[in-house]
Amino acid sequence: MTGTVLATASVHTPSIGARLSPAGGVAITGADLSRPLPADLRDATLAAFREHHVVVFRDQDLSKEEQLAFTLQFGEIEEHVGRHSAAGRYGLVHTVTNVDEDGRPTTKLSAVGNYHWHTDKSYHAVPSLMTLLHAKELPPEGGDTQFANMAMAYEALPEDMKQQIAGLRVVHSWAASRRRAGAPPPSDIEMRERPPVDHPIVRTHPETGAKTLYIGNHASHISGIPETEGDALLSDLLEHATQPQFVYTHHWCGGDLVMWDNRCLLHRALANYEMAKYRRILHRTVVTGTVPF
Ligand code: OGA
Ligand code: MN
Repeated sequence: MTGTVLATASVHTPSIGARLSPAGGVAITGADLSRPLPADLRDATLAAFREHHVVVFRDQDLSKEEQLAFTLQFGEIEEHVGRHSAAGRYGLVHTVTNVDEDGRPTTKLSAVGNYHWHTDKSYHAVPSLMTLLHAKELPPEGGDTQFANMAMAYEALPEDMKQQIAGLRVVHSWAASRRRAGAPPPSDIEMRERPPVDHPIVRTHPETGAKTLYIGNHASHISGIPETEGDALLSDLLEHATQPQFVYTHHWCGGDLVMWDNRCLLHRALANYEMAKYRRILHRTVVTGTVPF
């Protein structure tokens, strides 16, 4: 692969590959994320993140502590919403898995919402910036994660639709999202911590200036227009925004650590593997973002 070799003096010289798909994604090989990032690699990572939205580091084997230290080099860490109900599982580094308490794979989805297109924590006034997933155990095939590029999707909208949605605000709600995904309702404390919030339906990326659609499964309804009209608009936009030409599908390799930009992507897990047979275990950290505008 022709890649940019970074001028870092080490045994493994990190190298950044070509864009993985028209919608985004890029792989960095030869990096050792268990050590503090050299300044040039951190800068190159952030540049790749801005340009390709999904950065895949190959061949890592980080402990939870190492993943936490790696993540902290990119900003402040967010805690998990479910921490009150399952404190052990949801520390600062939490586990995304189909494995039950006894270590057995199960089809019972603990995070059903992950299988619907969403952007992390859009039901918070200050939603997530960057999510990092590190593969610890994977099924032999499938268990993919998909990413849809919301800047491309916005760009491709007809001009009259861009005008129609300009200035609209969307209410994002954890409770509505759970209902829609068929998950049990949130606890009282979880609800108190996160009343519904609204965000612009067209978000401006604070670093690139790109306009992006800010929608997904946590988007409950549109403020100030009749609910049925708003619902139809939201589902039309979601259907438009998740067409194959806007999507990068990540086929996980052992040791992958993937970081993505929640400000300009929707993502979802695919249930395309034998869940009752194989374990899928990923470690997750999240960097807090800023108020969308
Ligand atoms: C997440 C998420 C998808 C997956 O961790 O935020 O949506 O493929 N995960 O596990
Ligand atoms: Mn998610």
